[in-house]
Parts: sequence; C-alpha cells; structure tokens
Amino acid sequence: MLRRIYAVSVSPARTDKPSPAFIQTAAPDELDPAPGLINGIDSPHASIPPWFLYDQIGSRLFDVITVLPNYYPTRTEAEIVATNLRAMCGARDVTGAALIDLGAASCAKAPPLFDAVRPAQYVPVDISVEFLRDAVTKLQTEHPEIEMIGVGTDFSKELVLPAEVTATPRLFFYPGSSIGNYDPPEARGFLKRVRRQMDDDATLWIGVDLVKDTETLERAYDDDLGVTAAFNRNILRNVNRVAGTDFRPAEWRHVALYNEDRHRIEMHLEATRDLVVTWAAGQRPFAAGERIHTESSYKFTLESFEAVLHDAGLDTIDAWTDPQRWFAMFVVAPST
Ligand SMILES: C[S@@+](CC[C@H](N)C(=O)[O-])C[C@H]1O[C@@H](n2cnc3c(N)ncnc32)[C@H](O)[C@@H]1O
Repeated sequence: MLRRIYAVSVSPARTDKPSPAFIQTAAPDELDPAPGLINGIDSPHASIPPWFLYDQIGSRLFDVITVLPNYYPTRTEAEIVATNLRAMCGARDVTGAALIDLGAASCAKAPPLFDAVRPAQYVPVDISVEFLRDAVTKLQTEHPEIEMIGVGTDFSKELVLPAEVTATPRLFFYPGSSIGNYDPPEARGFLKRVRRQMDDDATLWIGVDLVKDTETLERAYDDDLGVTAAFNRNILRNVNRVAGTDFRPAEWRHVALYNEDRHRIEMHLEATRDLVVTWAAGQRPFAAGERIHTESSYKFTLESFEAVLHDAGLDTIDAWTDPQRWFAMFVVAPST
C-alpha cells in the first residue's frame, strides 16, 4: 500500500503528445521532516542526509558532473553496459519487463536499454520530484510505445511501487553506484526492500564503483571547474528551504577525501570562519574548519559487494567490469 499519494496524473487515453502517469507519494518537504534534519546539523559531528543534495538545481549540477572528464563512473558504467548488454539480457530473461529505474534522475541511462529489453513499462523513481517529472515527460514523447509511470518518492525508508506497475518480470535498475551512498547496514536494508518487491522471476541490474587509487577517487569528487563544490554547497540552499536555516553557502568550502579505512569517499562542507547558523527554535555555532558531512560514497571489491547482496537475500548471476576494473555491473536474482 502506498503511504500517501500527493499527486497523480494519469496519461490521457490518446493525445498528440503522450504524457506519462506520475505518482508522487511524498511531498518534497516531508522527505525528512525538519526536526530530524536539525538534529543532524545540531549534533557534535554535524551531518545532512545526502538526498538533500537533489533538488532541481542539485539534479542539474549532478548531470553536469556526469560529463566531467575526471568523473569516470558514468562513462565507465556506460561502456560496460554497451559492451555487455546482450550478455546481461542473456544472463536472465528480462524481455518485456517493467523496467524500474531507481534514482532515475534525468532518465538518461534507460533509453540505451530499450532496444534490448523492450520494456512493457518504464518506471523511473526519484526523490527529486520536479526534475524527474520533467525528464519522464520528455522521454515519453520520444518513446510513445512504452507505458511510463514516474514515481516521486523517498525510498530511503520504504520502497513501495504503485499498483499500476503490472508488467512482468520486474527488472530493477540501480546504476551509478548510488548504493554506495548508504552506510553498509543501510545498504543491506535498502537491498532487502528491493528484494521484497522481487518475485522469483525478477532481476536487479546494479552498478557498483570499485576500490582504486586515492588520487583517481578524490579527483572524481573535486573537479577543477568547481561543479562538484557547487553541487555540495547547494545542499545548504535546499536545507534553508526545508528547515528554515540561514546557511550562507559562500561561507563553506567543499572537501572531498578518501577514507581508506572505511573504503569511502566523504564529502564535507567546511566552515571558512567562525559562524553561527540559526533557525526558528535554535542556533548552532561552527568554528572555522569545522565540517558538516554531506555524502559518503562507498567503494567495493567484487567479493565485498557480492557479500552485501548475499546478506540481503540476493544472488549474483554474473558481473562485468571495464578493463581497468574501476566499475562493475552486477546481474542479480533473488536467492532461492
Ligand atoms: C548519484 S545520483 C544517480 C543518478 C543516475 N541514476 C545515475 O546513475 O547517474 C542518485 C539519484 O538518486 C536519487 N535519490 C537519492 N536518494 C534518494 C531517495 N532516498 N529516494 C529516492 N531517490 C533518491 C537522487 O535524487 C539522484 O537522482
């Protein structure tokens, strides 16, 4: 059952311009109620949940990041898929599936799959509700033959698909190593939620970033043009909107570092001077150099990720990497 539906627009029976159905199960401001957000900002090790990076501006900035020369994940994953798509389809039958694109953003990674999968339904899911609505509306006009159902929701706590998603088998697609944004227990929890939505014939295609040298990793998350810095600082604008804080983004410096012990890139915002952030019911002083943790991006080995899948009740059918073994695409099925 869906928690609450805020807005549903269903495609008209026939128009010159086909439009997708769009189902929004969370209002953006309720994605994390302000009190939880404030607790994170107010704690001794301040943090903001990473999904606040993705409002209209954040999603646009992320799109630019994906084409930056040093941001290898998008490019490398696309190469793996292009080279191995036939084998991925052969590993498990996904023909005519409901293609469920988790964290779909601009929906750019789905069209290259359409010819091979021939999905009966395309179901992009994202928390960046307005950005997704625009993206799926445009994609529907380019592919009127595929039924499209956009879902604007927060899947960090629950994943429930609308009853309109009827095609079988289900093919879940979770590219971009977005799974790495969760701490290990949360990643297992997320995958278990996906597992609960999978019948025996369902498949998960999941892209995973692999452990590599520190320089390559840190350069991917701290580009010369400052796009990733803008993406990170934009989280403060979004938080101001949701929680009524008065962050001034220009007073915060973008920091990206690889934590070798925890196999993760960490993005932080560092106060450039002593300052005070206020909101309706309180305030939090930050000393110069103090940081807010905004995102982690865990890196895996093929074996460590297979173990995560196994813990979530999922079996690896096959996996492909690029020649440098920088990135991997897994084809996964429910454990029997
Ligand atoms: C790293 S981007 C990946 C985008 C795209 N799939 C790709 O591979 O390039 C993560 C996407 O997941 C979405 N997202 C993050 N947290 C989410 C959540 N809790 N619920 C729904 N979508 C979420 C973001 O809005 C963003 O579009």
